[in-house]
Amino acid sequence: MSFQPPKGTDDILPPDSQVWRVVLLEWEEWSARFGYPLVATPLFEATDLFLRGVGDTTEVVTKQMYTFEDKGGRSLTLRPEGTAGVVRAFLDSGARGAWKGAYSGPMFRYERPQGGRRRQFWQVGVEFLDVESPIADVEVIELGFRYIESVGVNGLELRINTLGDHQCRPAYLTKLRAFFAERREELCEDSQSLIEVNPLRILDCKVCAPVMDDVPGMKDALCEACAAHYDTVRSSLTDLGIPFTEDPKLVRGLDYYTRTAFEYIGTGLDTAQNAIGGGGRYDGLAESIGGRQAPGVGFALGIDRIIMAMNRSVGPALDVYIVSETGPGEALRSASLLRSKGLRVDFDASGRSTKAQFKSASSSGAPATVIIHASAGEVSVRTMDDRRDMPLEEVAEWLKSQR
Ligand code: HAM
Repeated sequence: MSFQPPKGTDDILPPDSQVWRVVLLEWEEWSARFGYPLVATPLFEATDLFLRGVGDTTEVVTKQMYTFEDKGGRSLTLRPEGTAGVVRAFLDSGARGAWKGAYSGPMFRYERPQGGRRRQFWQVGVEFLDVESPIADVEVIELGFRYIESVGVNGLELRINTLGDHQCRPAYLTKLRAFFAERREELCEDSQSLIEVNPLRILDCKVCAPVMDDVPGMKDALCEACAAHYDTVRSSLTDLGIPFTEDPKLVRGLDYYTRTAFEYIGTGLDTAQNAIGGGGRYDGLAESIGGRQAPGVGFALGIDRIIMAMNRSVGPALDVYIVSETGPGEALRSASLLRSKGLRVDFDASGRSTKAQFKSASSSGAPATVIIHASAGEVSVRTMDDRRDMPLEEVAEWLKSQR
């Protein structure tokens, strides 16, 4: 029996898991700061939700879904992304008017695994529903940007584009089809097969990039309402001091987008996996899954990629390690007291020698060791540059004053 996790999945274990813990805690803080309450939806949904929501010509749907039949004969799919499930939950809740939700959890795509491209990966994201204003787009974009900035990623770049809407996109697609049809022979096989069904997706093809130097852009084909929307997005980003570049070829891999589309790029990563997050507006998604008209905007960030691109180290997982000369019972009581004062504390529960406990203290990474002596009374506290004796009750206060 092999103990390896399934292909394309990972065990997240210490010490690396400390980085995950910090990054995920910071996500909870940032999403709360922007007024997004937690939403949690099932890890699997009816397959139809993704066929109708994400789009049945996207790679995610045609090639990457983990689909199975349950014992009741229903076709279910492990969620490849979070937006369709959140929109379904929003419709089911019957809510009306501006509605926000933040999520964090694993997603599943049958991909060819490599660094930063996994079959199970972790996304954090938000959805902002029932609001049409471009100001919502900008608030959403700002949250992702500030969070990634604060986590500390090498070479963060925000790229934005507009994809128009049901008014102006059809005419643009006709233009695009004509452009690609004229160059059919120069396109790769996959792109050729997309000319009729989904020509926008060809813009995303790295192989065909040289054919597209003078491809028409959506920006020049926008209707008035979409043009005004895009103008406000750009001017508000500038107002907030958020730098961005416009990328007319940015189309995203999922079909539900209208108007604003954006990606956060980690320029320090390999180009094939350098999108650390992406999102956009999806004003037709709720209807395409059979609900009422409800505009929305959101993003998701890939935590696996953020961690690969991070340029910051996180602190130790513990504040204190307790070494007890009188056995683990006393260590347990002392740990309980220090923990009640808010410190992160560990000790050796197995009753090993003092020497062995000191070894564990040093490998634990805790910046302070508290030593409980055989003679009852004061404990000793050791830090990098100090050692002193004091009553156990004073340790937490003293350590906090040293930070
Ligand atoms: P997405 O661009 O498919 O968008 O995924 C968002 C991010 O998830 C990507 O930028 C990437 O960092 C990460 N990601 C995607 N696939 C993998 C993978 N196989 N391995 C590791 N990381 C991956 C969405 O999922 C949309 N639901 C975003 C959204 C929310 N749009 C509107 N609201």
